[in-house]
Amino acid sequence: MFGKYIRIEALANHKNASSKARHRIKPASVALFGLLAIVASQVTAQMYPPGGEGAPGNDMFQACGFCHGNQGQGRQRLDAPPIAALPAWYVERQMHNFIDEIRGNHPDDLPGHQMNLITPMFRNDATVKNVAAYIETLEPGGPPMTIGPPGNQRIEPRERPFDWISDYAFLDVELSSGNPENGSVIYQQNCVACHGRSAEGNKGLGSPPLMNLADWYVARQMQYFRDGVRGADSGDIYGAQMVPFAKLLTNEQQIADVAAYIKTLAP
Ligand code: HEC
Ligand code: HEC
Repeated sequence: MFGKYIRIEALANHKNASSKARHRIKPASVALFGLLAIVASQVTAQMYPPGGEGAPGNDMFQACGFCHGNQGQGRQRLDAPPIAALPAWYVERQMHNFIDEIRGNHPDDLPGHQMNLITPMFRNDATVKNVAAYIETLEPGGPPMTIGPPGNQRIEPRERPFDWISDYAFLDVELSSGNPENGSVIYQQNCVACHGRSAEGNKGLGSPPLMNLADWYVARQMQYFRDGVRGADSGDIYGAQMVPFAKLLTNEQQIADVAAYIKTLAP
């Protein structure tokens, strides 16, 4: 199972890996994360019988919060996106995609592998439903995670405690160079029909809201859809719909632009 992680190592020569933190990265820390996730998921899973009503959503979420943030606000340093307030129907679909290895199974999808690893904790459909319903009730935009002792807390640094060799760790352009005006033009032409004017999503079409997503996560998903990392599995009917639209963004500046525009739609 950890074979996938062996390729992960310090990226001293990577184009963007200039910070000191990245030079100190150890592959072992990724394996450790994986192990922690498995242990946590097994412990949680054992607490509830495999049949029946499943684990209560709020109990189950404790295990998710380690990566996704205690309020579902996301933890960029673990590559885990904000998920607070995502609609239950979309969360359920994604969890089944991870369980069925329709998503997160591509060799280049190292963040996605983490979700595949924790799927043993979803013992049955009822548990998936419960945790998805709970996530929908969470307020979006919770405060970023902090570190440090009480009274001396500071915002958690963004540097990953590990790094991975993958084309998808960064865009070729800085995300901060994204131009929301250009992004708006791209969005109105190509995205609005399915994702809605305020990026509120459209349940009837199966398109999720984008307004609460982080720009770095949007950018990675656009690259994934474009390059067949997500949406390419024959079982991924909804993901496949995204592929042609992701391919319309012919350079990474356009990805940065559309991600910058989506960021302006956060309520
Ligand atoms: C070990 C870390 C880790 C744990 C624990 C974890 N996740 Fe994730 N999750 C991730 C990462 C990383 C991604 C991003 C995958 C990608 O970029 O495609 C993700 C993606 C997701 C997504 C897709 C979001 C979207 O917008 O499509 C959902 C939904 C999700 N996780 C739900 C959960 C739930 C529910 C739990 C707890 C039962 C959980 N996760 C536990 C790391 C984790
Ligand atoms: C034909 C309808 C359609 C169009 C047009 C469309 N999308 Fe999507 N999009 C979807 C569907 C359906 C999904 C959900 C895929 C899944 O379930 O995995 C999705 C998923 C996404 C995701 C992943 C969300 C997440 O939480 O992981 C992003 C980001 C996204 N779309 C951005 C865009 C952008 C930007 C455009 C325009 C360039 C666009 N979409 C155009 C239907 C569409």
